[in-house]
Amino acid sequence: MALKSTQDRFGTVAITIHWLAAALIVALLISGFRVSGAADPAAKAAFLRFHAVMGIAILALTLGRIAWWWFADRKPLPVAGQPPLLRRAASAVHLVFYILIVGLAASGIGMMILSGAGPIVFGGASGALPDFWTVPPRIPHGIGVRVLIALLILHVAGALYHHFIRGDRLLARMGVGR
Ligand code: HEM
Ligand code: HEM
Repeated sequence: MALKSTQDRFGTVAITIHWLAAALIVALLISGFRVSGAADPAAKAAFLRFHAVMGIAILALTLGRIAWWWFADRKPLPVAGQPPLLRRAASAVHLVFYILIVGLAASGIGMMILSGAGPIVFGGASGALPDFWTVPPRIPHGIGVRVLIALLILHVAGALYHHFIRGDRLLARMGVGR
């Protein structure tokens, strides 16, 4: 399979990044809610260590992904027969994913810096974690997460609708099936 995308399917690089990013997002959503829901300070710090490392990883992957599309590859043409409004909605959702991921990573890093949690989470310093609600980036982080979940439901529902109801094998463009 070609590294770069063709007019009718994504290339190996885009497919690998897409599914790696999807796995990271799932890990981030689960670990993020474990952080905010944990009562035990040691468990909270451990979940946050994992969460922050995964968050930095998705930021790096997403910046790499943007660079890949910008400099090296072109997206396939839209699937045939798709109404223009739906096509624009799908592209808008894809763009907002990028903005949300970068914004969530930035607000996450902002929370770590402003709250002073870094040395407890990564430096082995003792003490309980601060209350993250006292730092401003906690609000956009919480809102961004909920918008991301809503868009993910739309995105996955759209992909499944195309593949199984319209029968246009959209998932195959993203490397699932032939
Ligand atoms: C979990 C996080 C996910 C994110 C952040 C995400 C994001 C994206 C983005 C940004 C694109 C546009 C291509 C690109 O820019 O590389 C895309 C395309 C696509 N995604 Fe996802 N996706 C996710 C999960 C999924 C899942 C679970 C499915 C399948 C059920 C899926 C199916 C697809 C398909 C089929 C395309 C290609 C659409 C086309 O041919 O135009 N995605 N996704
Ligand atoms: C795309 C990237 C990210 C996603 C999807 C994500 C997801 C989440 C989720 C689901 C929560 C729980 C929200 C709630 O209960 O309202 C959360 C909280 C949090 N996240 Fe993230 N996060 C990301 C990046 C980061 C990064 C990079 C860091 C730090 C470097 C970070 C630090 C935190 C902190 C400190 C909390 C607050 C926990 C609390 O209130 O106890 N996040 N995140």
